[in-house]
Amino acid sequence: MVTTRAHLITYGCQMNEYDTHLVQSQLVSLGADIVSSVDEADVVLINTCAVRGKPVEKVRSLLGDLRKIKARRPLVIGLMGCLAQLDEGQQIARAFGVDIVLGPGSLLDIGRALEGNERFWALNFRDELHGHVPPPPQGTLQAHLTIMRGCDHHCTYCIVPTTRGPQVSRSPDDILRELDMQLAAGVQEVTLLGQNVNAYGVDQGAQLAGYPSFANLLRLVGQSGVRRVKFTTSHPMNFTEDVAAAMADTPAICEFIHLPVQSGSNRVLRRMAREYTREQYLKHVADIRRHLPHAVLATDIIVGFPGETEDDFQDTLALYDEVGYDSAYMFIYSPRPGTPSYTHFADLPREVKTERLGRLVARQKEWSARNNATKVGTVQEVLLRGDAHSSGFLEGHTRGSHPTVVPHAVGADRPGVYRVRIEHATPHMLYGRTVDTAGHDLPLIPATVDTARPEAAALTAPLPMA
Ligand code: SAH
Ligand code: SF4
Ligand code: F3S
Repeated sequence: MVTTRAHLITYGCQMNEYDTHLVQSQLVSLGADIVSSVDEADVVLINTCAVRGKPVEKVRSLLGDLRKIKARRPLVIGLMGCLAQLDEGQQIARAFGVDIVLGPGSLLDIGRALEGNERFWALNFRDELHGHVPPPPQGTLQAHLTIMRGCDHHCTYCIVPTTRGPQVSRSPDDILRELDMQLAAGVQEVTLLGQNVNAYGVDQGAQLAGYPSFANLLRLVGQSGVRRVKFTTSHPMNFTEDVAAAMADTPAICEFIHLPVQSGSNRVLRRMAREYTREQYLKHVADIRRHLPHAVLATDIIVGFPGETEDDFQDTLALYDEVGYDSAYMFIYSPRPGTPSYTHFADLPREVKTERLGRLVARQKEWSARNNATKVGTVQEVLLRGDAHSSGFLEGHTRGSHPTVVPHAVGADRPGVYRVRIEHATPHMLYGRTVDTAGHDLPLIPATVDTARPEAAALTAPLPMA
């Protein structure tokens, strides 16, 4: 390949981030340099998302800017990932003079795509993507590990099965091999990724083909020596109590579960084709709480699905209260061309959807404030990633995925996993101080703390003597 300076831009979910790394490593192995801005690049690759209208609009506007640059100097523009797989994405690619189009199953074609001077479009779903994932750099603390691609569900609002194709699970050997590379690099927390991790192996004939159940895969990963294991996303329809049992019997598996409910109304769930009822969902929550009384629950909710009435929305609010989630991703329904709900149902007025979202966000904030307040005074194990805006603070998250901030302390001024006593909580953040194993505060390094930050005052004030 001719020497190339490539800049990659990623939209969308963790799977897209993982895929961007895959492409990046392919490029490096082919001799390309990865650069951090469009100005330095002669190739710009955009890994796209199509799940809602907004990420599509962002890509359009970015392509508009890139087209202007391309009018002034040579620039190769590539569109990859979910939007690229769709007719909608290919129309956009044509309209903006995009040179390379690679669907999420064709990312390994990046080398071939850059070889020629022709336009290069590849939209196949290939199985062998994962053998090409490189080890993460030494010292990486947190890693993603894709255990399956695609989705076999047909939620009526969702474009993902079209963009990513049918579900294909990776073999356990392949997964454990990648995990070993991550462990050798120092990874402390691994997040297993898939659109529907609870259905792991089902596409391969599951146990018959020697694939473990998802619960047993969790156990295998949890016994590998990695300090923390998380996973996303858990589809409630395929959730089994054994997953809750695995979480309880394997200490490395964090007591955190992201279980998207989408709606609390059975009528809406049926129209979404989610394949579970409110009652079945709540039974899963009860099973989880029985095995793990301190489980932290998070969810996804779509508001303003076509035909959603005020009563349906009240059912969602009531379910939120019944579960008392620690956090939630909340979305306004976005009609996606090509999905059944786009074709068959009329969209609700924008004002109705935004007004409901406002009420749901307020409810979420109340619960997050309440749940976070209960953490004050407790000691949490926090994975501190890096400097919070170079201000003398480190930012990280608990086993329950609560974002947490601590000031630099002696022996705890760099990324790692530390014990943190929580001193202060807001709905979105826990603030604490690192402590030793006996629970004593590690001395602060005050010179590095930016006291202009509001939380600094609380955290750097001397503690009252016990
Ligand atoms: N496989 C995962 C979800 C992946 S998409 C699961 O089933 O749980 C992530 C989230 O985007 C979904 O949970 C849903 O809440 C949201 N989403 C998907 N399609 C959407 C649409 N058309 N409009 C608004 N939100 C959508
Ligand atoms: Fe989309 Fe449903 Fe598949 Fe999730 S399970 S990716 S929401 S079709
Ligand atoms: Fe992820 Fe968006 Fe594709 S959410 S699966 S990048 S459509």
